[in-house]
Order: sequence, then C-alpha cells, then structure tokens
Amino acid sequence: MLFEGKRGLITGAASGIGRATAIKFAAEGAQLTIGDRNLAGLEETAAMMAIKPVIQAYDATDFDTCRALVESSARDGLDFVCNIAGLLKWGPSDAFSAQDFDLLMTVNATSVYVICQAAMPHLIKSRGAIVNTASTAALQGQPYNIAYSASKHAVAAITKGLAIEYAAQGVRINAICPGLVLTPMTRDTPPPEGVDWALMMRNAPKLLDGACEPEDIAEMFAFLASAKSRKATGALFTIDGGQMAG
Ligand SMILES: NC(=O)c1ccc[n+]([C@@H]2O[C@H](COP(=O)([O-])OP(=O)(O)OC[C@H]3O[C@@H](n4cnc5c(N)ncnc54)[C@H](O)[C@@H]3O)[C@@H](O)[C@H]2O)c1
Repeated sequence: MLFEGKRGLITGAASGIGRATAIKFAAEGAQLTIGDRNLAGLEETAAMMAIKPVIQAYDATDFDTCRALVESSARDGLDFVCNIAGLLKWGPSDAFSAQDFDLLMTVNATSVYVICQAAMPHLIKSRGAIVNTASTAALQGQPYNIAYSASKHAVAAITKGLAIEYAAQGVRINAICPGLVLTPMTRDTPPPEGVDWALMMRNAPKLLDGACEPEDIAEMFAFLASAKSRKATGALFTIDGGQMAG
C-alpha cells in the first residue's frame, strides 16, 4: 500500500476533493488527521474511511487553530500535508468588497502559508511532502473571479518559493491545478446572474464528460504525497479535462 506506516494531515476533508482524498489515502494505509471548520462533515468522512482518522475542527481565518491542527497531526511524526480547504466567491468586480477579497486571500492563501510554516520542522525530520491546492485560476485571469484567482496565484507562488527554500532539506512542495470539479463548492456557488458566458467559457473542458470528479483529483494527491513523485518539487500539476490546452 502506498502510505503504509505514513502519517499525514488533510485539510478541507469534510467535503468534495478533501473528502475523496482522505478516503483514498486511508485505503492506501495512511494514518490521518483530518481538519475542517465543518465538524459534522469530518465525522461523515471518517465513517467512510478504512482507517479511523483523528478529527480536528479548525478555522482557516484563525491562524492559532491552523498551528494547533498541525501540532496535533504531528504528535507521532508527520510525513505529508495536503492543503485542500478553500473558499469560492464570485462577483462582478465593480461590486466585490475588499472584505470578501481579504477573506478569500486569508482562507485560500495565508492559512496555507501558515500551515506549511508550522509543518516544516516536522517534514524536515521525515523528508516529507506538501501538496497544495491551486486551480486553473492560478494559471490565467478569470472574469468575475478576481479574488479567488489572486488567492490561487498566491498558492502557486507559495508552492514554488517554499520548494526552492526547502529542497536542500529534502522537503518537496507541489500544487495541483484542478479545472472544473463536481463538488459542493461548484454546485452551491454558481457564477452571478448576468455574466458574459462567452468570457466564462473560454476554457471549457474538452474531453467528453470533461468535468472532473473529486476522485480524479485524489489520485493526483496520492501521487504527489508519496515517494512515487520523489523527483517532483516546486511544480504545478494541471488536471482539467483539457481546459487550459486552449
Ligand atoms: N471544485 C472545483 O471546481 C475546484 C477547482 C479548482 C480548485 N478547487 C479547490 O479545491 C479545494 C477543495 O474544493 P472543493 O471543490 O472540494 O470544495 P468544497 O466546498 O466541497 O470543500 C471545501 C472545504 O473547505 C472547508 N473550508 C472552507 N472554509 C474554511 C475555513 N475557513 N476553515 C476551515 N475549512 C474551511 C469547507 O468546510 C469544505 O469542507 C479548494 O481549495 C478549492 O479552491 C476546486
């Protein structure tokens, strides 16, 4: 099994991609701590996992809770961290508030940095790995989605910069750039009324049934958190049904 004897932290595990990743990693033998602000969702996820995880609620806007999550996950050693928690909010830019812009930056980017920072001493010991969640929104401008896109560009920068800083100490840091994934995030947060769909659909999936399922993304998390990707660091891995191909 891919993660036999390995310990890791997965955030955002109450739903969507984080849930699918927690289920996949437990099936591959991982001993996990799963974190999210949605405790009931974490409990549902735990019930679907082959190996019982440690469950810990945290709020990505409260950095002390981010650090506490890392410390409890590392109590017996830490081999990998998957930063998957995230927030989407669309809106035409003439009306999108600075407060919402800040909130998306805090949840999607600053908390990821804080978690990486807290995990690093443990990952240096284990020569471990971090897998962050960027997006195709990290690779292009997206109309009506400026704050989210800015926060995911920041995740890409955090990933590449930390990878260079910690490469010599044996820690690998990569990020995944999913395209459209069918999860509660995309189901519950449709684009605002009145958007220009010609602009929105410049980068539609090209494959037949091109939208990804959470399980498709979980496969890539497993590759990047395991030794199978031992020569990959500082890289962004796109999985998007051909959205970014043109
Ligand atoms: N669904 C997509 O199309 C898509 C595409 C590209 C990237 N992503 C990214 O993938 C990741 C997972 O998204 P998903 O589609 O599974 O969404 P989701 O909404 O199903 O899951 C996101 C999880 O993050 C948690 N979360 C949100 N704010 C939090 C906070 N303040 N503190 C702690 N936890 C918090 C939520 O409770 C939820 O469980 C996110 O980072 C998202 O930006 C999603």
